[in-house]
Amino acid sequence: MNPATNSTAPRARRSVLGNFVRSSIGAKWVMAITGVLFLLWLIGHLVGNLQIFAGAQILNDYAAFLRANPTLLWLVRIGLVVVVVLHVLAGIRLATLNRQARPERYEGYRFRKASWASRSMIWTGVIILAFVLFHLAHFTWGWIFPSYFQLVDGKGQHDVGGMLVRSFSHPWMAAIYMVAMVAVGMHLSHAIWSSMQTMGLYGRRFTPRALRIGRWIGILIALGFFFIPLAVLFGIVRIS
Ligand code: HEM
Repeated sequence: MNPATNSTAPRARRSVLGNFVRSSIGAKWVMAITGVLFLLWLIGHLVGNLQIFAGAQILNDYAAFLRANPTLLWLVRIGLVVVVVLHVLAGIRLATLNRQARPERYEGYRFRKASWASRSMIWTGVIILAFVLFHLAHFTWGWIFPSYFQLVDGKGQHDVGGMLVRSFSHPWMAAIYMVAMVAVGMHLSHAIWSSMQTMGLYGRRFTPRALRIGRWIGILIALGFFFIPLAVLFGIVRIS
């Protein structure tokens, strides 16, 4: 065995992977994979939260069940942080590469359309990132309404349902969530279709259908979340 060849092989492999991740298509793949992973978690999060329509106690039991498995909880949390950081870094890389590749002068519908879509993705992405930090401060760290965060239910469990309903009965808080969900819907609508394209799922018949399906999945997820503060504001969900 040649030791010189052996020691350079991992470095060569690393640089192939490094070059791929730094390339435009590599960054798109990182965005697509991390986006899909976050989307799967988000669907689970939506289903979990929709249990508020079945009663605050059901939501509290569900939250207590999640907290009873700290290993799983923390594995998921660490996974989420890794996924979000990689998604943001790949987004920054892609935006930088796009800017570098942009010609001095440009005109035409195709370019303007692509540019609007990618610009809106950046802005909705920034709004979602700001929302997630606000959301963690609200529900996970309990900084915004500390008195609601300390509530316990009849079983001595963290009263997530009571905290949620009390929080959204403040119209300004419900409004922040509803505006953020518009950004979530816009971001997902484009992202789902875009990640299908990255993964090679396109074709003359498939692409228009994928565009429609992507749009609807994004809209339905955002609407699901949107209805929660709205239902509290309209008194459909209330403290029992
Ligand atoms: C009306 C909309 C939403 C409601 C009512 C809601 C509710 C909650 C609640 C109650 C928690 C705390 C769970 C606990 O600690 O027991 C939580 C955590 C979290 N939410 Fe949401 N959520 C909403 C939308 C979203 C959206 C759209 C995102 C992402 C874009 C998101 C991301 C997160 C994250 C990352 C956590 C932390 C998870 C953890 O600590 O393990 N949420 N949410």
